[in-house]
Amino acid sequence: MFSGKIGFVLAAASSAIGLGNLWRFPYLAAKYGGGIFLLVYLLLAITFGFVLMVTEIAIGRRTQLSPLKAFGALSKKWKWLGVLATIVPALIFPYYCLIGGWVTKYAATMVSNHVADAAEDAFFGAYISATGEPLLWFLIFLVATMLVIIFGVNKGIEKLSRILMPALLVLTLGLSVYVVTRPGSLAGVKYYLLPNFRALNAKTFLAALGQLFYSMSLAMGIMITYGSYFSKEEKIEKAARQIEIFDTAIALLAGLMIIPAVFSYSGGDQAALSSGPSLMFVTLPKVFNEMPMGGLIGALFFILVFFAAITSSVSIMEAIVSGILDAFRCSRGAATAIVAVYGAAVGIVCSLGFGVWSDFTILGFGILDFLDFISNNVLLPLVGMFTCILVGFVIKPDLIICEVELNGPFKMKNFYIAMVKWIAPLFIFAILVTGILQGFGLLTI
Ligand code: TRP
Repeated sequence: MFSGKIGFVLAAASSAIGLGNLWRFPYLAAKYGGGIFLLVYLLLAITFGFVLMVTEIAIGRRTQLSPLKAFGALSKKWKWLGVLATIVPALIFPYYCLIGGWVTKYAATMVSNHVADAAEDAFFGAYISATGEPLLWFLIFLVATMLVIIFGVNKGIEKLSRILMPALLVLTLGLSVYVVTRPGSLAGVKYYLLPNFRALNAKTFLAALGQLFYSMSLAMGIMITYGSYFSKEEKIEKAARQIEIFDTAIALLAGLMIIPAVFSYSGGDQAALSSGPSLMFVTLPKVFNEMPMGGLIGALFFILVFFAAITSSVSIMEAIVSGILDAFRCSRGAATAIVAVYGAAVGIVCSLGFGVWSDFTILGFGILDFLDFISNNVLLPLVGMFTCILVGFVIKPDLIICEVELNGPFKMKNFYIAMVKWIAPLFIFAILVTGILQGFGLLTI
């Protein structure tokens, strides 16, 4: 159980806030038309995001079980959904640590006062396409994650992150104010905040939906686990809303810091906006290089991002380890070792995918992009959709509603029922099918 009223919300939020908010959200928003992506994201967050967050916390608190067992306990025939949900963290983990390695490299670059080098256009490309160096930083990040788990210092890290998360929020806010007031960035603010409906298509919805689940750690069992620690005295509805607000605020600010900077420092053309995973790493050093005390601020920023990333990677790794412990008979140490070896192997392949193996593609995706696509754009929507169907038609919404109403009325009850039964599953299905078809060029809306 978590101590204090805000304890649960902060713990869940600091696990949820990570690279998804700071690295992934801004590059997707830049790529998918700025304001229109933001609008779709917010709409999905207050509808599907809210419904799934409430559902997962309630399932966790009600069953007091891990995701792998919780679905089976709700209905014997639905055990597979727990398995599917647990596969997602396993797909995300290797490349999450790879990006964590990139962040660590940038933190080290800033700390050693090489901000001017990092601001060069070619710096990032040269770094990720090299063979040895990115692997080294990746392994450092992976080992750091493992050490936190082995030495059981998670509690300490969690406490630390109660100070570091607000610090990150304040710094991101300050940086976005700075960037927004730079010459040329107004066009970026407009691009980011004003929806352009002509840029709207099925892919926008799928990208926003996948990002929503990824960023809030939904549809992968994580919030079920957190829910199982959630005290019966607290209000689920309120907690769900607070976690969503925290998570969204950080993502929104990260976008406001990065996207206008793309206009002010990198010209803001379509190529710069669509640069994908490299966006944060290419754009921010240019800002730090030019701002007063930028080296110091840059160092502080990347150190805070490192902490946000490691709290998330620790909880992703733990999710996989406890999944293994639930399914197989082995010791915690052995399970941790298996996950570490697996993570290292797949992460190395992802990293080489930017260098010596860059010609190797799967369905047109690079290796990291492929893992990202399968987990976020295929599995997360599927698990989300089936969770709604399970709740809506098999166990019935009443079970969730009873759990939510243990202490006080469920304000959005009718909305919840309509969403979980009909609107969410139907829309998620439509978004999934059209988004994938369009992604492969089989549909042009
Ligand atoms: N939500 C995290 C982020 O935004 C990433 C994440 C994905 C995660 N799956 C997770 C975090 C599982 C904790 C547990 O970066």
